[in-house]
Amino acid sequence: MSVFVTRRIPAEGLRVLSQASGCRVQQWDSEEPVPRAELLSRVAGTRGLLCLLSDRIDREVLDAAGPGLKVISTMSVGFDHLALDEIKKRGIRVGYTPDVLTDATAELSVALLLSACRRLLEAAQQVKSGGWTTWKPLWMCGYGLSDSTVGIIGLGRIGQAVARRLKPFGVKKFLYTGSGPKPESAAEFGAEFVPLTRLAEESDFVVVTCALTPATQGMCNKDFFSRMKKTSVFVNTSRGAVVNQEDLYDALAQGQIAAAGLDVTTPEPLPTDHPLLSLKNCVILPHIGSATYATRSTMAVLAANNLLAGLRGEPMPHELKL
Ligand code: NDP
Ligand code: DGY
Repeated sequence: MSVFVTRRIPAEGLRVLSQASGCRVQQWDSEEPVPRAELLSRVAGTRGLLCLLSDRIDREVLDAAGPGLKVISTMSVGFDHLALDEIKKRGIRVGYTPDVLTDATAELSVALLLSACRRLLEAAQQVKSGGWTTWKPLWMCGYGLSDSTVGIIGLGRIGQAVARRLKPFGVKKFLYTGSGPKPESAAEFGAEFVPLTRLAEESDFVVVTCALTPATQGMCNKDFFSRMKKTSVFVNTSRGAVVNQEDLYDALAQGQIAAAGLDVTTPEPLPTDHPLLSLKNCVILPHIGSATYATRSTMAVLAANNLLAGLRGEPMPHELKL
C-alpha cells in the first residue's frame, strides 16, 4: 500500500502510517505546500493520498495518480478543495476529520468575535504606539454581547459549539440559517430559523460557520452587508469564498457595519497589501481555527486511520458520504 502525504504533519499521525504493516509512506516533508508539479509526479501510482485543505485535488491530480488511487484522506473537516464528482466517479473513498476540531474552532471563533467587537488589536496597538494618554470615557468603545442577537450562518457542529460558548455571555436571542430548520439542534439555544436577509437585518453579531458550497459561495455580499446594522459585527471562520471581500471592504470602510473578524480569506495567504489589512475595524487571522497542538495531533491521527481503514477496505472512522 503506497501512500503519499502532502506535507509535514504532526508526528503522531505519520507514526500511525509508518507503523502499519505493508504501508509504504512517501511524504513531502516540509512546512510549505508541495509544488503542483511535484504533487503530480509523486501521486503517480499511489493507492492512498493524505492531503490538506491547501491541496487542490482535481481531475488533473486524479489522472496523474492513475486508477490505483483508492483512498483520499484530508486532514480537515472542510472538503471544498476536493473535486468530489470526479472522485466519486472513480470509486475513490474519502476520509475527513469532523468533530475533533469543533471545540478548538468554536473557541477561536469566540476569540475572534471578541477581538473584533471590543477592538482588542487596535487597543493593544495604541498602548504600543503611545496613543494611550489617559482613561477617556469615549475612547476605544465597542459592542458587547450582553442582550444581543447573534445570527449563525450554518448551525452545524461548529455553529452549535459557538452558540454554546456565546450563550453565557448573556445573548438574548439566537437566529440561524441553513438549508432548512434543525429544531433538534436549535432547541438548546432557543434559536430561530430565519431567511438570510432577516438574519442580516436583526443580528448584532453574525457568525459564519457553514460549509463552502455552490449555494454559500459569495453569500455574504453587498446586499447582505447593506442589510446589517451599522453597529453589527461580522465574523467568518468557515471559508473565505463565502464572503465577497470587495463588498465587505466597502461595508467596513463606509461604516455600513461596525467591524469584522476573519480567520479565512480569499486567497490564503492574503497579500500583505490587501485593502482589508488597511482597516482598523477588521481583524484578520491566518486560518488558525483548529490550531491547538492537541487538535492538530488528533486530526493527523484520525486522517491516518481513515486512510488505513480505506486502504484495507474497512469502515473508516470518518468517511465522507459521496
Ligand atoms: P457541519 O457540516 O457540521 O456544518 C456545516 C453547516 O453548513 C451545516 O449546518 C449546514 O446547514 C450549513 N450550510 C450548508 N448550506 C448552507 C446554506 N446554503 N446556508 C447556510 N448554511 C448552510 O460542518 P462543521 O461545523 O464541522 O464545519 C463547518 C465548516 O467550517 C467546514 O466546512 C470548514 O469549511 C470550516 N472550518 C474552518 C476551520 C478554521 O480553521 N477556520 C476549522 C474547521 C472547519 P444545513 O445542515 O442546514 O445544510
Ligand atoms: C478544516 O478542517 O476544514 C479547517 O479549515 C482547518 O482545520
